[in-house]
Amino acid sequence: MHEQITHPCVQHKLALIRDINTGHKEFRELATEITMFVCYEALKSISVKEVEVETPVSKTKCHKIDKDIVVIPILRAGVGMLDGILSLVPSARVGFVGLYRDEETKEPVTYYERMPQQIREGICIVIDPMLATGGSTVAAIDLLKSQGARNIVVVCIVTCPEGIERVEKAHPDVRIYAASIDQGLNEKKYIVPGLGDAGDRLFGTS
Ligand code: PRP
Ligand code: URA
Repeated sequence: MHEQITHPCVQHKLALIRDINTGHKEFRELATEITMFVCYEALKSISVKEVEVETPVSKTKCHKIDKDIVVIPILRAGVGMLDGILSLVPSARVGFVGLYRDEETKEPVTYYERMPQQIREGICIVIDPMLATGGSTVAAIDLLKSQGARNIVVVCIVTCPEGIERVEKAHPDVRIYAASIDQGLNEKKYIVPGLGDAGDRLFGTS
């Protein structure tokens, strides 16, 4: 299952973040804002438990999220989405997976991982601004599942049909949410029109 968030506020911010003239400060702010919107949608169907709350006026039944939420940014660019999701779910735990895409093979190379044990029973939200060939996301999900994770959601800013297809083929149980599903990949496996190299644009490297 995948879903594109078509809300006008998201589309407006996408126009700004895609712009080649947007500098790293504004790019980071936009990544945070877009992440909040997309995560808000991605979390709409998570389970809640009934609790009783006493207001100054009376007792009432309310609902609270009943599972641990573990956010997993794919290093490095995924870190640019962390503030956005943590402002929505401040009590979330955070696991890290370090992956980079080999320039020659375009396949992911894992260089770091550290997960909280709550990945097994909780809801794991993998964040990475770019889901391009899908190699990095599939590798992150493989790692999570090998450590017992069963409930995994992917949130990205921009993706494309090739990446979605690869993730859904490998992991049909995983839901993908994106601000945009773009046209496709170019010969360098960059998303078109995309927004360029998300890590470089977030952190001011090139
Ligand atoms: C980018 C991006 C994803 C990956 C997407 O990371 O942040 O992790 O590429 O490509 P894929 O879907 O084809 O695997 P990159 O390898 O540039 O590393 P960085 O985050 O350190 O910049
Ligand atoms: N990684 C990026 O940062 N951008 C792309 O378009 C593809 C992979």
